[in-house]
Amino acid sequence: MKISALLSLVPLVAALPGKQAKQAKGSDASFGVISARSASPIHLLPLNAVGSYFYLGGNAQSYCPEGIPGCKQTNETVITGGHFLDVTVPGGQAIFVDPKGALRFTAPHSAYEPAGSSDGPFTYTPGNSFGHWSYEGQGASGFMACPTNGTTTYRRSRRDAAAPKWQVYAALQNATVPSGSVSDCIGFDALAVADNSTVPATWEYI
Ligand SMILES: *[C@@H]1O[C@H](CO)[C@@H](O)[C@H](O)[C@H]1NC(C)=O
Ligand SMILES: *[C@@H]1O[C@H](CO)[C@@H](O)[C@H](O)[C@H]1NC(C)=O
Ligand SMILES: *[C@@H]1O[C@H](CO)[C@@H](O)[C@H](O)[C@H]1NC(C)=O
Ligand SMILES: *[C@@H]1O[C@H](CO)[C@@H](O)[C@H](O)[C@H]1NC(C)=O
Repeated sequence: MKISALLSLVPLVAALPGKQAKQAKGSDASFGVISARSASPIHLLPLNAVGSYFYLGGNAQSYCPEGIPGCKQTNETVITGGHFLDVTVPGGQAIFVDPKGALRFTAPHSAYEPAGSSDGPFTYTPGNSFGHWSYEGQGASGFMACPTNGTTTYRRSRRDAAAPKWQVYAALQNATVPSGSVSDCIGFDALAVADNSTVPATWEYI
């Protein structure tokens, strides 16, 4: 199911039970993520990978080198294996939490993560219409979205897109967020929308 199809499930989201189904760790499932926090400005926004960070809203920034048959750029972000981007590039692209608490991904052809980064645990819990993705490292319980004002780390893409307003962090009280105050951030549920495509979403995210 595509993220856009999930929007038709809004009534279901509103009825989301507080308790999640049992955990299934180490799953190879691929999924997109959409935020759920009712009565907030971040309800039902897609999670997107842009310039090594993650945002709610906007479009993913992906890339296909020339001469790769069948390779496609995508503006949706697909996660696989719990904490990797769903890419073809050799070495893959891992998802981690940097020392400031920001959710990030490794650059193509590089395993570099800043010293003090956390690799998880990230958990994926499958569900019927959608599952649930979470980060539980460092005592965190999931994610939060923090407002930016365009002065942050977002790199302008070759596509002329505005910087998404909400940057994603681990839900940590000591996170270093753009506005300077964690109280400006909004916690959210990361709904996981299964992606049943049999090929990786793109070559790489940039
Ligand atoms: C995402 O890409 C598809 C086709 O690749 C395009 O039709 C759609 O308009 C794009 N969505 C946005 C929000 O740019
Ligand atoms: C933030 O708090 C968590 C949980 O107490 C801790 O594990 C982590 O090291 C802290 N991070 C920083 C940068 O102080
Ligand atoms: C907006 O940018 C200014 C610097 O131009 C900075 O001082 C302020 O903290 C920023 N606010 C947010 C919410 O990022
Ligand atoms: C996923 O599965 C559904 C139903 O089986 C199908 O309609 C849809 O085209 C599939 N999507 C992809 C990307 O393969």
